[in-house]
Amino acid sequence: MSTAKTITFTLFITTTLFASCNAATNATTKPLFPAILIFGDSTVDTGNNNYPLNTIFRATHFPYGIDLPDHKANGRFSNGKLIPDILAAKYNIKQFVPPFLKPNLTDQEIVTGVCFASAGSGYDDSTSLSTQAIPVSEQPKMFKSYISRLKSIVGDKKAMEIINNALVVISAGTNDMVLNFYTIPTRRLEYPLISGYHDFILKRLDGFVGELYSLGARNIVIAGLPPIGCLPVQMTAKFRNIFRFCLEKENKDSVVYNQKLQKLLPQIQASHTGSKILYADIYSPIYDMMQNPSKYGFTETKRGCCGTGFLETSFMCNVFSPSCPNHSEFLFFDSIHPSEATYKYIGDLLDTQIRAWIAA
Ligand SMILES: *[C@@H]1O[C@H](CO)[C@@H](O)[C@H](O)[C@H]1NC(C)=O
Ligand SMILES: *[C@@H]1O[C@H](CO)[C@@H](O)[C@H](O)[C@H]1NC(C)=O
Ligand SMILES: *[C@@H]1O[C@H](CO)[C@@H](O)[C@H](O)[C@H]1NC(C)=O
Repeated sequence: MSTAKTITFTLFITTTLFASCNAATNATTKPLFPAILIFGDSTVDTGNNNYPLNTIFRATHFPYGIDLPDHKANGRFSNGKLIPDILAAKYNIKQFVPPFLKPNLTDQEIVTGVCFASAGSGYDDSTSLSTQAIPVSEQPKMFKSYISRLKSIVGDKKAMEIINNALVVISAGTNDMVLNFYTIPTRRLEYPLISGYHDFILKRLDGFVGELYSLGARNIVIAGLPPIGCLPVQMTAKFRNIFRFCLEKENKDSVVYNQKLQKLLPQIQASHTGSKILYADIYSPIYDMMQNPSKYGFTETKRGCCGTGFLETSFMCNVFSPSCPNHSEFLFFDSIHPSEATYKYIGDLLDTQIRAWIAA
């Protein structure tokens, strides 16, 4: 054998061994959860709004998805993966969580879990009136038809075992504030104080979790609100906010809501035997990123990467909006939604919490 041939041969052996070793590891590394199930809004919608709904809330065009392996927009409101995908990969479940409305889901995709979330939705049904998204309260209907399909694939007993052990993630509430309470006067007439509206939303959340529990969900992670006053679109909405300060009032509202939610969750858990409910803190990491951008490699935290970054989201963020050169240097990808870099930091934090929680 010539030297070149030997090297090639050695390389071949090494890569083959390496690859088979990898495959073996994956095959034998048991997923931490058999499946992942996702409910909520655009922070976790992996593409349900792509399918026949009358909504304009879609992320089906460039530059969304630009950092995904195929560089194609597929409904995720970011440049890359969302938290559901990040967690599914960390737990050895799969690399991407498919949307339930995707027409040709394979049996394997069903068995390992899907996403029922819809961008533009909220706990309050009236939030979806302006966006035509699937309200959170409608998502258990999809979950029911998912369960039927799962049962037809693996049988009733195994199906319930998968659902009982699945990781369930719920993320919603921001649209109820941003698109509804802060924007449309009707809810404010009914609830002159935001605390009344918080209580209304939390009551809806309580009922929703109860419904998922009755369908078999047990391990449930529920996200709080982000610092809503720091979302670029909210900074823009404030008159003469030329230095783009976070809106303290809206941040304070988020803090109050999150405190109430953290008090409520142990009560919900106590009233549903066998359930485990984890509060996911989204507020602190995003707030810290705003305060200490360089710690995260961010150079811009006050506007989105897409277009001017002040207003664009959904259809306004498109092929004609120039994107920032380095997407990882921006906390936000559009004027509402975090970049994949942000989601990766939050995913790492959540992962630590979830592993401790599930082991407890
Ligand atoms: C094994 O898992 C890793 C990390 O999830 C992934 O990058 C790799 O492609 C997987 N390998 C195989 C053979 O599935
Ligand atoms: C599923 O459908 C989508 C769009 O209709 C198509 O792009 C994709 O190739 C299909 N996948 C399979 C496995 O049939
Ligand atoms: C983009 O930004 C990230 C985070 O600051 C940095 O780690 C990376 O090296 C940058 N990439 C390029 C091509 O400059």
